[in-house]
Amino acid sequence: MIKENLFLCMGSACHQMGVYEVLPKLLALLGEYELEDKIELKGSFCLETCSYGIVMKFQDLHFINISPQNVEAKFIAEILPAIQKSLSEVGRVRS
Ligand code: FES
Repeated sequence: MIKENLFLCMGSACHQMGVYEVLPKLLALLGEYELEDKIELKGSFCLETCSYGIVMKFQDLHFINISPQNVEAKFIAEILPAIQKSLSEVGRVRS
């Protein structure tokens, strides 16, 4: 099965804001929502929105202002719906 890429910025600004604390939380969330076989979490170079907190990208959507404290809430409110929408469009989501 081809996985969709979910990018987490690993650039220096995002690094300073705690991306290495965000990373394990994201991996846990992908596991919790049974997305490990559908979504590939990848590090990315600077996504060029450094002043908006830690940044993630899924397809053409950018998710900004992520922090180690809010990553779970942001994932559930913003990132997960985008992933589920995309997966359902290609008929790969189990509902
Ligand atoms: S370092 Fe992350 S957006 Fe620039």
